[in-house]
Amino acid sequence: MKDTRIKNLLAAEKKRQKSVINLVASENYVSADVLKALGTETTNKYAEGYSDARYYGGNEIIDKIEDLACERALKLFKLNPKKWGVNVQPHSGSPANIAVYQALVPKGGKIMGMTLAHGGHLTHGHGVSFSGKFWEQVPYGVDQKTEKINYDALIKIAKKEKPAIVVAGYSAYPRKIDWKKMREVADAAGAYLMVDMAHISGLIAGGQHASPFKYADVVTTTTHKVLRGPRGGMIYSRHDYGIGKKAPKMKKGKIAPTLFEKIQKSVFPGMQGGPHMNQIAALAVALKEADSASFKKYTEQVVKNAKALAGELKNLGWRITSGGTDNHVFLVDVWKEGLTGKDASTRLEKNGIIVNMNTIPFDTRSPFNPSGLRLGTAAETTRGKKEKDMIILARQIDKILRK
Ligand SMILES: Cc1ncc(COP(=O)(O)O)c(C=O)c1O
Repeated sequence: MKDTRIKNLLAAEKKRQKSVINLVASENYVSADVLKALGTETTNKYAEGYSDARYYGGNEIIDKIEDLACERALKLFKLNPKKWGVNVQPHSGSPANIAVYQALVPKGGKIMGMTLAHGGHLTHGHGVSFSGKFWEQVPYGVDQKTEKINYDALIKIAKKEKPAIVVAGYSAYPRKIDWKKMREVADAAGAYLMVDMAHISGLIAGGQHASPFKYADVVTTTTHKVLRGPRGGMIYSRHDYGIGKKAPKMKKGKIAPTLFEKIQKSVFPGMQGGPHMNQIAALAVALKEADSASFKKYTEQVVKNAKALAGELKNLGWRITSGGTDNHVFLVDVWKEGLTGKDASTRLEKNGIIVNMNTIPFDTRSPFNPSGLRLGTAAETTRGKKEKDMIILARQIDKILRK
């Protein structure tokens, strides 16, 4: 590389990544093949539109790459292409979520999503994001006592508020989600059920969590995190009008667009121009990698490691919100031991352990210096760590934080 400044910075970042223990719940290490696909000539190509319907010439190979990514994306979650379609073009998870709202929620309509403070994502209707500016959030949270979702409470909210869409899927919720119950929540309002499985799509692909597809109308995901692909987003949607929904009445001779058709239009030309074809090529590689026995084993280990790490921290006297974890992520209430999230994460970073500070449910502190830490095991499991390593790591964390 001729640009020595960037070359040196890239080398320094590579070294940094190798030298730290990475417990950031949303990060992972992609394979050499995924990295290789990202750095290819596909980045040069403009491909606005979809396969066989592009606005630029020269897309015969690009079409094959995108078709293969879509085929693998459906196969990974065992979806029937006659019932489900997938869009692999969203540049990341947030644009994927915008595209769904734009397609299915009227301007100013209601999005029922978990508040950021309880583990939801900004794009689930928070006021600082587009999702809370162009639409109105109907917030929900976890139960104060159990710190888990109380589905009956959500049904009551949905009945009263009648949101157009209910979002299930979170950034910092350590428990399994009952998809059937979330369907009941959506049905209580006659709403669409959108599952944002960004954090757990890898766990679902690996069989550690139940699949939401039987109950969801639309499913969005990032392609990084546990799934271990390049950064990006995907939207799965039904080739019908939604579960229990009939085709809306149209003017004579017109056929109402299906959910899939609406979402295709919403992504392009609705909110993006050209897809990032190097990302899509790398995604195709990652989807094939995820459709394997070794990936299933990896996801099993991710969960075992999270349970081991959370369990040992608990043994050492740290409060884990909701009492533990069913997935790759959990929250430690460090404020209970007199430490702020910011202090705790800074101390760990100084000792080569990277985490992120996070609010805990019903936090009494501000998001800028909250009461908690969010820890995840996807990245360190990719590096081959097992439960015994997690026990050692928990003791190390305890020692650093109690110094
Ligand atoms: C549940 C959830 N949805 C959406 C996103 C947004 O993804 P991105 O950062 O790729 O825009 C995230 C990111 O962490 C997330 O946790």
